[in-house]
Amino acid sequence: MRKKIVAGNWKMNKSLDEGLSLVSEIIHMAEDEKHNEAEVVLCVPFIHLVSVAKMIQGKENIHLAAQNCHHEESGAYTGETSAAMIQSTGAKYVIVGHSERREYFGENDALLFAKIKQALSNGLSPIYCCGETLDVRETGKHISLVTGQVSEALFALSPDEIQKVVIAYEPVWAIGTGKTASAEQAQEMHAALRKHLAVKFGEEIANSISILYGGSVKPDNASEIFAKADVDGGLIGGASLKSRDFMQIIAVI
Ligand code: PGA
Repeated sequence: MRKKIVAGNWKMNKSLDEGLSLVSEIIHMAEDEKHNEAEVVLCVPFIHLVSVAKMIQGKENIHLAAQNCHHEESGAYTGETSAAMIQSTGAKYVIVGHSERREYFGENDALLFAKIKQALSNGLSPIYCCGETLDVRETGKHISLVTGQVSEALFALSPDEIQKVVIAYEPVWAIGTGKTASAEQAQEMHAALRKHLAVKFGEEIANSISILYGGSVKPDNASEIFAKADVDGGLIGGASLKSRDFMQIIAVI
């Protein structure tokens, strides 16, 4: 059985106090509502990692993630944070290749491959983001573009390594725009990605990899998207900043 995951990507939001209040609301509601088996992952800014790690200690289904890591092990990279440093806070995951990093920081698949290797060799599971822009979708080349992103960043991994990766399909045109891919569009891409993974790594491994959908997931559209066979959860931006919305999304996985 593949792991179901609902990950909240806070992006560059929340002061330390605001972030800790949000986490304490989530913990409280999770206890009250005794949520399902899904893993909840909080992808917080670096400054929150240590404090959130303490708050979620002993909470089996709640895990911590960073939103980025550097592609080198350590050294003179002022302002950067390494995978080893992130792992030392107690985080389990790190987002790699979010479309905002690709667009605003020029990150390409070769660099993302180096980040993924850093994450894996330091005991972190990468949440690798891929997805097409509207232009690409309109030309009908979205599936070849996104499967290409996956080949470039993930196909040099070993069978052991790939099984530690989570993939997040996030159509760029759906991120923060209020436009969600339809459940059918999400399923089509997720199934294509799984097939692509199966060709390289075999069916058993492909069937074990969680593929999340991201892009304007809200409480009112989550259940339709999560109901699709190859959608194993979501990467939630805006709606993860409000505890009630986030918990409602977790409740329907
Ligand atoms: P959104 O962001 O839910 O606000 O569209 C998703 C993401 O960027 O991970």
